[in-house]
Amino acid sequence: MKLSPLYLLFILALPLQAQKFENLAQTPPMGWNSWNTFATDINEELIKDIANQFVELGLKDVGYEYIVLDDGWMAKERDAQGNLVPDPKKFPNGMKALADYIHSKGLKFGLYNCAGNTTCAGYPGSRGYEYQDARSYASWGVDFLKYDWCDTGKLNATEAYTTMRDALKKAGRPIVFSICEWGDNAPWNWASDIGHLWRVTGDIINCWDCEVGHGTWSSLGIWKIINLRKDIRKAAGPGHWNDFDMMEVGNGMTDAEDRSHFAMWSMLASPLIMGNDLRIASKETLKTLSNKGAIAVNQDALGIQGFRFTNEDGIEIWIKPLANDAWAMTFVNMHQTPYQLTFDWNKHQIGDNLNNRMLDTKNSTYQIKNLFANKSMGTTGSILQHMLQPHDVLMIKLEKQ
Ligand code: GLA
Repeated sequence: MKLSPLYLLFILALPLQAQKFENLAQTPPMGWNSWNTFATDINEELIKDIANQFVELGLKDVGYEYIVLDDGWMAKERDAQGNLVPDPKKFPNGMKALADYIHSKGLKFGLYNCAGNTTCAGYPGSRGYEYQDARSYASWGVDFLKYDWCDTGKLNATEAYTTMRDALKKAGRPIVFSICEWGDNAPWNWASDIGHLWRVTGDIINCWDCEVGHGTWSSLGIWKIINLRKDIRKAAGPGHWNDFDMMEVGNGMTDAEDRSHFAMWSMLASPLIMGNDLRIASKETLKTLSNKGAIAVNQDALGIQGFRFTNEDGIEIWIKPLANDAWAMTFVNMHQTPYQLTFDWNKHQIGDNLNNRMLDTKNSTYQIKNLFANKSMGTTGSILQHMLQPHDVLMIKLEKQ
């Protein structure tokens, strides 16, 4: 066969075309981020403690992996060569030593920066320094980069995130790229070849359904976030996730609300990034964060984001198809009072049109497992009954008999 010179040139140029690192984040990333609890008040001792807690509390064993330093880890100025410098008071041994420590625990290390001139808290941003910063991250052993969107002026989001993706690729160390432009430019439509996860809204706050204004933007409670972005599920899948933000479990809501929050993030196939102080976490908080059944729903190999089935009578019912013809279902009591749940399998036709799947309770019987209680609830052969406490959740897994 005779190949034309133009065709040959095209083939030869293909490897030069940058792409994101493939085969990362095949399930939603799990980890911890400093921002929700500590803002810029972070330091080496704290982060090492958190790494120790991952191991001691068994969080590593249930799948949490990334420890991410958010805004505030840098000195206010770059050095004379233009390199980013870790704040010498907060991180006296530098980032490589901290990364080594985290890696020695079998965990992974994440950092934050921003596409603009400065970060949201006023530290040096990466604009104009993308390739140099990517080389620093690679040399320190960074495994995850959260990349924010403050002080970006007229920058085009797709272009700015593509530049950083290419810079990371060029630096050569596989790094999960976490896009954080708050959903302003609908990244679910364009980011799947650029990043591995992308924030879908502005910042989360530790409340059930509130919105707290800050002038030009607002923080959003759990249900505000869910309701705003429940319809973008088709963008999610292995290697590219809708990021519903770092979790507020353990940060002041009731234990029931925390359970519902965790169940919903699991149903939504959102990254599970803890945002609480693990050193003082209560037993109940840890029980929620470590729930193996909910985590397995989140980490399911199909990577399908769940969807709202109904929300009648103040009860949210959500559904997520799982591998091996199994399903997860979540019932949330939006009332401030207990609610007697009754669900007759014969009266509902459950299916996922997007993925062409049916939960066929007419021709098959499914075993039901209550995931938070870790016990069987019988089968779909009889009516499901459960007393739901205020703002609490029943999360179940259905498996064919
Ligand atoms: C933005 C992000 C937050 C956090 C802060 C840091 O608000 O959305 O998640 O990273 O910046 O300043």
